[in-house]
Amino acid sequence: MTSTTVTPDASPRSNAQGDGWWRSAVIYQVYPRSFADADGDGIGDLDGIRNRIPYLSRLGVDALWLSPFYVSPQADAGYDVADYTEVDPVFGSLADFDELLAATHDAGLRMIVDLVPNHSSDEHPWFVDAVAAAPGSPERDRYLIRDGRGEHGELPPNNWRSLFGGPAWDRLPDVDGRGSQWYLHLFDTKQPDFNWANAEVAAFFDSVLRFWLDRGVDGFRVDVAHSLVKDGDLPDVDHAAHAIDRETHGGGDRGPMWDQDGVHDIYRHWHKVLDEYGSDRILVAEAWVSPVERMARYVRVDEMQQAFNFPFMLAGWNAPRLRKIIADSLAANDAVGATTTWVLSNHDCVRHSSRFGLTDPTGWPNGIAADDEQPDATLGLRRARAATLLTLALPGSSYLYQGEELGLPDHTALPAEARQDPNFVRTGGREIGRDGCRVPLPWTADAPAYGFSPTGASWLPQPEEFRELAADRQEGDPHSTLALYRDALTLRRAEALGAGAIDWADSATDVLDFRNGGIRVVANVGPSAVPVSGEVLLASSPGAVSGGLLAADATVWLRA
Ligand code: NOJ
Ligand code: MG
Repeated sequence: MTSTTVTPDASPRSNAQGDGWWRSAVIYQVYPRSFADADGDGIGDLDGIRNRIPYLSRLGVDALWLSPFYVSPQADAGYDVADYTEVDPVFGSLADFDELLAATHDAGLRMIVDLVPNHSSDEHPWFVDAVAAAPGSPERDRYLIRDGRGEHGELPPNNWRSLFGGPAWDRLPDVDGRGSQWYLHLFDTKQPDFNWANAEVAAFFDSVLRFWLDRGVDGFRVDVAHSLVKDGDLPDVDHAAHAIDRETHGGGDRGPMWDQDGVHDIYRHWHKVLDEYGSDRILVAEAWVSPVERMARYVRVDEMQQAFNFPFMLAGWNAPRLRKIIADSLAANDAVGATTTWVLSNHDCVRHSSRFGLTDPTGWPNGIAADDEQPDATLGLRRARAATLLTLALPGSSYLYQGEELGLPDHTALPAEARQDPNFVRTGGREIGRDGCRVPLPWTADAPAYGFSPTGASWLPQPEEFRELAADRQEGDPHSTLALYRDALTLRRAEALGAGAIDWADSATDVLDFRNGGIRVVANVGPSAVPVSGEVLLASSPGAVSGGLLAADATVWLRA
């Protein structure tokens, strides 16, 4: 038997990344709107999260990442921030935040918060000032505001498109009779892009970092970290080559708005700001860049600590793709002294239990509607559990998205009038968007809104399937998805898998077979059972191993 060893620890450890907690942490994404609603208005809130800290502790995660809870008109579910240092009343108050953070820390968990530096809300005072100010003013210089093209400036400054559909430019009112200018928004019209060449913008974000660091947060997840700096000339793009649509952005040719070298100066600077608070605060990049070597540039020793491994998430349920991306990611991160992260789901994509139930389990739909192909829920969940067990055995850090520990599927039958994603709205429904993965969690099968809210209110309707998947139904069932996650996290910790290294064994094309410390992991990604032997410690589905065979779409952890 030949084997290839990919050793994350091969590079010198004498770098600033050291032995930090994040290198092997399991970090749970809380999407505040949909986690738990304490005040009964149908929108999750900070008190709701605090009430559920015992659940998260028991689950066995190391840290929480909170999606935005800042003051916002909620045009993009809070990724449109109108006040970076205040809690939106819908989620609570700063005092509630402090209590939540204290409760999180008391439970031995860390907390990172979202930072949205590419754009603000159009209701941010700076943008309100920019709208009222004259062309060429310092107020306008904080955003990417330009004269239009055409005889009267009636055409947008370039041909970029918004990721949510439509042009990436909108017009400002004409304030001084010189004609109206245009502002750039890579996302919604209510999300104007900042001008990161403006020193005031940079200084402002230093103050935002310090505000939350002073309150005690353990770090930041940085929204669209690859887009802050644009090519200064804002050149037209060839859409075929520089597509910024959801499918290909960040892949292939980068385009003048993504992954420009200048972003790294910003993160080197932020690294120093965090260092003022000790060596255990982190930055994690949401950067849709590929290949993984390019992604690893964000986690060089003096930049961020982590970057979400989206190439892994995009690999789907396909053994050769998974094997390659695992090996490539470990090697690329190792080369810069960082550990790798792993992620299967988040609030921007169809949950992996639904993706893997599609005919093509490598497919990447932008939401699923009732008249699209419907996922096979049983197959999808079976594969999702197998994928999770594979993922949690990998060295490095894993991100979990709330509800995946319950095996929740996407809501694929949301009526159009319930959908709120600007991506759905801006494309007139041509793109389904992300509401399906954002549905409020089911806590109690027989309570109104499945226990999400004491009043039964829920900002998105929940599907009937959530009843059986409610946390209380899974409690005490040793075969439940919740039990699988708890068992896997317990064993992962006991065996220090996050700090380990993997040693591949030869295997059939559809099988991933490796050792990490004292555990041998065999994932059967193919359609037929394969021989396996050894002491089974954990299996992704009941009866996955029987008669010396590992069933299709199953992963097993064996005593190595
Ligand atoms: C990435 C966030 O995850 C997503 O939800 C948001 O719509 C965009 N960035 C714009 O902020
Ligand atoms: Mg509420």
